[in-house]
This record gives sequence, C-alpha cells and structure tokens, in this order.
Amino acid sequence: MVSSMASKVFKLIAEEARRQKYGLEMIPSENYVSSNVLRALGSILTNKYSEGFPGRRYYGGNEVIDKIENYAQDLAKKLFGVPVALVQSYSGSPANMAITMAVCNPRDIVMGLSLSSGGHLTHGAHLSFSSIFYTAVNYSVGKDWKIDFEELETLAKKHKPKLIWVGTTAYPFKLDYKKFRKIADMVDATLVADISHITGLIIGGVHTSPVPDVDIIMTTTHKTLRGPRGAIILVTERGLARDPEIKAKIERAIIPGIQGGPHNHQTAAIAVSLEEALRPSFKKYAIAVAKNAAVLAKELGTVSETHLILLSLTKYGYGMGYQAQYALEEAGITVNKNTIPGEPASPFYPSGIRLGTPALTSRGMKEEDMVRIAGWIKRVLEEIKGLDLPKKQEERKDFLKEVKEKIHENKNLKQIRKEVEKFAGKFPVPGIQ
Ligand SMILES: Cc1ncc(COP(=O)(O)O)c(C=O)c1O
Repeated sequence: MVSSMASKVFKLIAEEARRQKYGLEMIPSENYVSSNVLRALGSILTNKYSEGFPGRRYYGGNEVIDKIENYAQDLAKKLFGVPVALVQSYSGSPANMAITMAVCNPRDIVMGLSLSSGGHLTHGAHLSFSSIFYTAVNYSVGKDWKIDFEELETLAKKHKPKLIWVGTTAYPFKLDYKKFRKIADMVDATLVADISHITGLIIGGVHTSPVPDVDIIMTTTHKTLRGPRGAIILVTERGLARDPEIKAKIERAIIPGIQGGPHNHQTAAIAVSLEEALRPSFKKYAIAVAKNAAVLAKELGTVSETHLILLSLTKYGYGMGYQAQYALEEAGITVNKNTIPGEPASPFYPSGIRLGTPALTSRGMKEEDMVRIAGWIKRVLEEIKGLDLPKKQEERKDFLKEVKEKIHENKNLKQIRKEVEKFAGKFPVPGIQ
C-alpha cells in the first residue's frame, strides 16, 4: 500500500514533470538525463555502503560495486584521455574542496576568477570554504568581459598562489588554457581546470580540451555532460609528473577528508552517461548546443562562443535581473538573474540574466526554434520596461514583492505562456510521458 506521505511526494513529482515538459528550461547548468541514466539513479545500488575505493573497501559485499566504479573510472579515462579518474565526489563543490585539500595546506593561497566576473563560489569566493580555510585572491574580466590576463599575471607574481583555478560559471567565451599554463609556470602553481559548464562542448570538440595544459580537471556530471548530479576528478599525465602522489592525496581528501560512503547509484548513472557521451551522437549534440547558443545570442543582440549567454538588461532599465527572471518565469521560460561585468546596480539585485541551450537542445530544438524563443524573450522583456529597481536599498525588497504580483497579473505574459506551452509540449522529455 502506498502511504499518504509517499503519494504526496509522487504528486509533487508529477507537478514538477509538467513544469519541465511544458516550460523552456534555459538555465545553462541544467539538462535532461536519458531514461537509462534515470534507471541507474533509481536503482537498488543506493542500498549499499562502500566506504573506500575499488579493491580497498571498509565493508564487505562490494564485489559488484567495485566493478561498477572501475567501469565508470575507465570510461572517464577513455573519454578524456587521462591516466586517473575518480568518480566518488557527491557533487562539484565537494570535488573542488577535495582538490584544494589535496594540493594546498590550510591558509595557502588559491586564485580563481571572481564571482562577479563569472567564476564559481568554490574558486575563492567570500563565505565559501575556499576563502574561509584558504587565502583567496581573485582575478577578473576586463571591460570587454574577457579574462584580464595582465591582471592575472600581476596578481600571480605578487601572491605566488599554490593553486590557480581556470573555470567559469557565467562566461560566454572560449578559454585559452595555454595562457593560464604560462602564468602558472611563472609562479610554479598547480593549474586546475573546472570544466563543469563546458565538458560536453569539450567532448564534442567545440571547445579546446584542457588535458595537455593543466594538472587536474574537475567536471560536474549534470550539466552539458547530461549525466546525474555528481562530479569527476581527472589527473593528467602532466599532473602525475608534477606530483606522483596526487591521486592518493585526492582520494584521502574525498574519504576520510570530506565524505563517507559513495553514492553507488550515482556512480552507476555517471557510467551510463559516460557510455552515452562516448557515442558519435553526443558529438552532434554538443555541436548543436553551441550552434543554438550562437543563434540565440545573435537574436538577442549579443554573442556566445559556448552554450550560454550573459545578457545585459541595462537598455531595459536599472537593475532589471530579478524583474526579467520573474517575467520570463511567468511566461514559462526559466533563466537566472546574474551580475554582469562592471555591475552597475548591485550583486544582490543584478543587471543581467544568464541563459543557455543545453537542455533545449536535448529536447531536439534547432536553430529556427531559437529564433522563435528569442522572439518570446524579447516580447517578455518589453513588459518589464519601467519597472526599474529603486535606488534606495531599503525600498528594494517591497518593490520586488509588488513587481512579482504585477507580473503575475500581466495578460501579455499569460498569452506568451500559452504559446510557449503549446510549443514546448511538442518536444519529448526522457522519463516524462
Ligand atoms: C564551474 C562550476 N564549478 C563547480 C560547480 C559546483 O557544482 P555543484 O553545484 O554540483 O556543487 C558549479 C555549479 O554551478 C560550477 O558551475
């Protein structure tokens, strides 16, 4: 018999399934996994404790789990062309923590792109472990929104970091790993690429691989890779030559350093997604993601060299990020508010939105669909004109509450939502009828 608690959860899952099918999911770090990834994720593998690593477990009964984890590691090594792959980190943030612990001692200097320039929290942001337990120095982007290598070199020479992160979370341009390597070598820093956002593009050959130039790589598995939530840590030949003990150090940082038992259902689902990423069809997917993003960006009056678009809304008014996110959500289009480089409003009430094409492309949407979607986005943004953020900080919270209500009543947005639902509903979503 299904208990009332369980039935409530499944009702809510059905509600979320509807949202995922009839909306346009444009948060660039999200995607739709395949039915087989879902099957592995929902499997009985969740029942097993397996602290340790293949062949070296704390508990008995891990014969099969060892085979699964070894298989996932082998697939990752093959896909990226590296000698070491570890698949146990629960997600991207603990994976980055494990790498930092393996490379640095507490208080050592780590350098990463600032949050406001498109970097990630774990690369040295305020309030993250990476600045609480380590000494964080941030580099940034210049007026052209691209990484300022002159500043990076100056900061590196001044602070002599032990670790330099190259990786982004809201950056629409390609990364030149060779330039980072040159600077890391000047100060003898370990260079770590966090490719979470662009893994799929790297596999598809749309973005250069960091493998020849960096020591360690971290990728989340749930973004452009189209796997379950999780992470993979890779060590390159160069990284092993730099520190032959690095694999053991990262393993120790994962357990007992940070985690307990691995999530075996997650490991199995990662293996399924890696099998899928090794197929020729995945390359086609990655190419389509980037093509779609380029078309969408052009239609919105900007550029993208990757899977994401960072759109400044300054032409619509002051501090319009929240208003745009609310209005787009009302119209069935999910994006996130985001700071833009040189943020003119506030990091808490930013002036831009971040949107991308990985999830839409997984549903089979093509370039002509992007033109249509850009049309809806532009119509939605017209509706927020005049809803500028108050200059006085104390008025902002109440103002946004009122804006949300106003947006909820807006008839034009309701009309756009109808059109969006009709369109989106035609594209299948794996695992959703
Ligand atoms: C570049 C980058 N690194 C790490 C992470 C952290 O991943 P998770 O959310 O799985 O902890 C993210 C997630 O947004 C990311 O974009």
